[in-house]
Amino acid sequence: MQHSSARNRSTMITTDIESFTRSFAEDVHRGLSAAPKHLSCIYFYDYQGSLLFERICRLPEYYLTEAEATILRTFSEEITSYLPPEAALVELGSGSCVKTEYLIEELLDQYGKVTYSPIDISRRMLKESAMSLLERYADLEIISVAAEYDEGIRRLEAHLDRPKLILWLGSSIGNFEFAEAAYFLKNIARLLAPEDLLLIGFDLVKDRGVLESAYNDSSGATARFNFNLLSRINRELSGEFDLDLFTHKAVYNEKRSRIEMHLVSRCEQDVYVGDPGSSYHFDENETIHTENSHKFTMEAIETLSRRAGMRMVKQWLDDKKYFCLTLFRPDRHHHETET
Ligand code: TRP
Repeated sequence: MQHSSARNRSTMITTDIESFTRSFAEDVHRGLSAAPKHLSCIYFYDYQGSLLFERICRLPEYYLTEAEATILRTFSEEITSYLPPEAALVELGSGSCVKTEYLIEELLDQYGKVTYSPIDISRRMLKESAMSLLERYADLEIISVAAEYDEGIRRLEAHLDRPKLILWLGSSIGNFEFAEAAYFLKNIARLLAPEDLLLIGFDLVKDRGVLESAYNDSSGATARFNFNLLSRINRELSGEFDLDLFTHKAVYNEKRSRIEMHLVSRCEQDVYVGDPGSSYHFDENETIHTENSHKFTMEAIETLSRRAGMRMVKQWLDDKKYFCLTLFRPDRHHHETET
């Protein structure tokens, strides 16, 4: 049988990325005018940022990727056994799609053909990872969506008329506040058909030393990733940040079970940003809060599931109990009043 070329098996759905750039300027202005200063972590992931994040994923200190990949590799057959036949794979924040390959290969073995829909905000990252997957797997079809998560899922509805497994890996859920995560999942639950499934990766609460070295690696890759936010402001909004005048800091807040990431001003300074045309004052040691990475207990996952109107189907852990993959189904008996 002849296989169609990689190009014919690939579709890209694009949303209004222009308006996304507009909100970047507004968000930067709002965040740098606030006390304490903050920037939204969604802006980490342009193409440059996605590449820098891939490098973080290969660090020995950043145990999350290996732990999650091991779970996916070990249990891919069991995980996919919960799917209805011919289910499509959808992935939120797909990045380079490396871990997804275990599930793609497993489903190709079972179904012969697979449809995979990565949703990501970097169009270039989507294009490149789609091409490399399509070249490797002749029976794979890819519908990529360049969008933020919820918009992406909504757009897909018109293109996917079959049951699906939505993947949300890498503990990206931990970058949301607990209430935001519950709200977001609740909205996803509404969009899902009863037989659809959701597989989420959760990084678990553990020893402070292990956590802090994962976010303060010795090679400085995480610092470079954090600094990319400032480079982006310089590149895209004509900012005048001198990166040498900031340092990277990540600490574990045990009370709130989360890593808090900051950029710290080494000195008192004023920084001008061309769009929107304002200067921002920094005291010495003043910080910009750039990211939280919440760590979960098994109880927290259960609470989240209840609040989100999801039912837990099954959980898988690695040997060290560092990481947990949880499979959810929308709960049809969930009532609004429960939350
Ligand atoms: N989802 C990743 C996490 O919480 C994001 C992340 C890892 C990250 N390392 C980072 C974000 C460094 C900013 C800076 O682990």
